[in-house]
Amino acid sequence: MLVSYYSLTGNIQKFLEKSSAKNILPIITGQEIINENSILITSSIAFGECPPPVWQFTKNNHKFIKGLVGSGNKNWGSLYCGAVKMLSTEYSIPILLQFELTGDIEDLVQFNKIVASSL
Ligand SMILES: Cc1cc2nc3c(=O)[nH]c(=O)nc-3n(C[C@H](O)[C@H](O)[C@H](O)COP(=O)(O)O)c2cc1C
Repeated sequence: MLVSYYSLTGNIQKFLEKSSAKNILPIITGQEIINENSILITSSIAFGECPPPVWQFTKNNHKFIKGLVGSGNKNWGSLYCGAVKMLSTEYSIPILLQFELTGDIEDLVQFNKIVASSL
């Protein structure tokens, strides 16, 4: 399964480099178009908001997005991983995993299982 991701400060990119995911698409402008099923990973910005390129990407491609993974920081309290919560509500896509910053080993194991199970 394709893994589409947006990484502003590099945390998600680092997480993916440690993972077993091989088929990876960085979201840069949000204008990228996919035609295969994908997991979407995004961080949250500015009080639980979704980064604008991720909104655009999801608007264009939501039919192919089968699951959401969020990277956030629990210091943001109820706004933790707000981006994936908003996308999940808007497009009825399940949240598969949420992790802090670059994730820990348990997050990685869980994520690798998700990638393997959706091949
Ligand atoms: C300006 C700014 C705002 C942020 N806002 C949130 C937030 O509202 N909720 C949250 O869970 N994390 C928030 N974070 C934390 C990031 O989502 C977190 O560091 C994430 O791992 C960044 O991943 P990335 O470097 O791959 O983009 C914020 C970080 C920054 C720099």
